[in-house]
Amino acid sequence: MPNRRPIRARGTAEIHVELRAGRDGGTVAVVASRWQSDDRFASGEEYDSTWRALAAEGKSIHGEADLVCRYEPRSVLDAGCGTGRVAIELAARGIDVVGVDLDPAMIGHARVKASDLIWIEDDLATVDVGRRFDVVVMAGTVMIFVEPQTESAVVANMARHVEPGGHLIAGFQLSRSFGIVAYDAAAAEAGLERVARFSTWEGAAWASGDTYAVSVHRSPVEQ
Ligand SMILES: C[S@@+](CC[C@H](N)C(=O)[O-])C[C@H]1O[C@@H](n2cnc3c(N)ncnc32)[C@H](O)[C@@H]1O
Repeated sequence: MPNRRPIRARGTAEIHVELRAGRDGGTVAVVASRWQSDDRFASGEEYDSTWRALAAEGKSIHGEADLVCRYEPRSVLDAGCGTGRVAIELAARGIDVVGVDLDPAMIGHARVKASDLIWIEDDLATVDVGRRFDVVVMAGTVMIFVEPQTESAVVANMARHVEPGGHLIAGFQLSRSFGIVAYDAAAAEAGLERVARFSTWEGAAWASGDTYAVSVHRSPVEQ
């Protein structure tokens, strides 16, 4: 039974965070609805409260950080960091993190929670952080929230922020308009090679027909 929790109602539209069971007993965090200007959360606190409630029920809310840590990064760019859920957890594990997000309410809340970390309010399609990272992670289905038709630009720009030999990791719901074929094509165009694909952040094997994928692409060592 999916754990579906409305986190904002605006007129008849609702945005949901939902934890679905994966095949390995792990979970897939699914956030429904595109992140449009008229559909944003009133506050980062509102977004965080949903995750806190899930944690209080004993659900794992750090599957993304766990998977990122498998690649043993010293530095991580949390791309579409929102309220810093993933970045703050990675920083607590001793990793050098930077967060980027376009939504002032979300990243503003991250700043309040962790003022010692670097938070950049900018667009993933165009931001230049001025350095590269061992891992760039797009958690919380960021790819389905970027403006339609900018997906390839986002992947290309994030690829530019990956160290040679480093990884771009993204988990999102697959749709007809943007699925793994389009994502892989954008990653290949950006010079990345796919090294793994999972159906959950806990690392369950991905199978054709799955509607959620966590994709791991590597940047070539020689550039
Ligand atoms: C569902 S939230 C996920 C937040 C966080 N990664 C997490 O897992 O908790 C999606 C985030 O993507 C951000 N986002 C969407 N399009 C973006 C863009 N073009 N540039 C930067 N951030 C973007 C939104 O502002 C929002 O904070």
